Amino acid sequence: MLDTKKTIFSGMQPSGMVTLGNYLGALNNWTKLQDEYNCLYCIVDMHAITVRQDPAKLRKQAKELLMQYIAVGLDPEKNIIYYQSHVPQHAELSWVLNCYTYMGELSRMTQFKEKSQRHAENINSGLFTYPVLMAADILLYQADLVPVGEDQRQHLEITRDIAERFNGIYGDVFTMPEPYIGKVGARIMALQDPTRKMSKSDENKNNTIALLDEPAVIMNKIKRAVTDSDNEIRFGEDKPGISNLLSIYCAVTGKTPAQAEAEFANTSYGAFKVAVGEAVVANLEPIQKKVKELEKNQDYMDSVIRSGAEKASRIAEKTLRKVHKKVGFPPRIK
Ligand code: TRP
Repeated sequence: MLDTKKTIFSGMQPSGMVTLGNYLGALNNWTKLQDEYNCLYCIVDMHAITVRQDPAKLRKQAKELLMQYIAVGLDPEKNIIYYQSHVPQHAELSWVLNCYTYMGELSRMTQFKEKSQRHAENINSGLFTYPVLMAADILLYQADLVPVGEDQRQHLEITRDIAERFNGIYGDVFTMPEPYIGKVGARIMALQDPTRKMSKSDENKNNTIALLDEPAVIMNKIKRAVTDSDNEIRFGEDKPGISNLLSIYCAVTGKTPAQAEAEFANTSYGAFKVAVGEAVVANLEPIQKKVKELEKNQDYMDSVIRSGAEKASRIAEKTLRKVHKKVGFPPRIK
């Protein structure tokens, strides 16, 4: 059968609890692509260790991320979902691509500059070559489209530069990936600092809502979210806190901004926050229930983990063999 579907690749780091921001900005959109595209969704544990992680926590978060991929509706039969560290071709291609990437290019990466400031005690070479591993992730699967947030745009650009350079030398080895611009996901901001994006690696847990937070915790965090000193419930650049809560409300209820504004026109901030909290809790309830079921079904999870890695590895190996041949590695003897 001729497969005419385009390939989509994306990944998420298991570097913390999955947040409402990850869900509404990314995961939830991924579920809408699974019928139309061949999708690979990787749990990029190898990227995560570019900053120091607690081993037990990392393992737990990776497993939870996988369960949440499934719980939000990514079907492991339709998508290839797997752990990056289970598919050694990522590391192997990354090495080759390192030799086709310049120090100068990597030094210009904004995320490297930021992270090396934030982790001044651990500016390791993995942090520096992080975009090369990301390029390997994408190019291994000949991905056509990559859904990424604004913060990863530059990494996708360098991926394209590396692919173009390699193809220029050896012929068409890699598909040139494009950013996937779908219906833009909601951009959810930190609850205590709504000028910053909600981030799973945030130290202040009051900034984030985790998908697996208990209802009471969610209600509490939303009640404590910063707002402002007037009492109008409307979107506005001058009202980042209220705008963020309205965005969250719209994203979880499917209502339009105008509908939400009208609904809360005569409401106090307190009552508004309760409504937002309840809407979030209701939205997350089925996901949390599904995760609890998956937790009890270790055999099923094992089969997903095994078959995801097998499927990914089969595709990745094809690209890697081609690359090895192109650069001049001796053929393997069967
Ligand atoms: N670097 C991405 C992030 O932190 C995660 C990632 C790794 C990724 N490899 C990828 C995203 C490949 C898209 C494609 O968000």
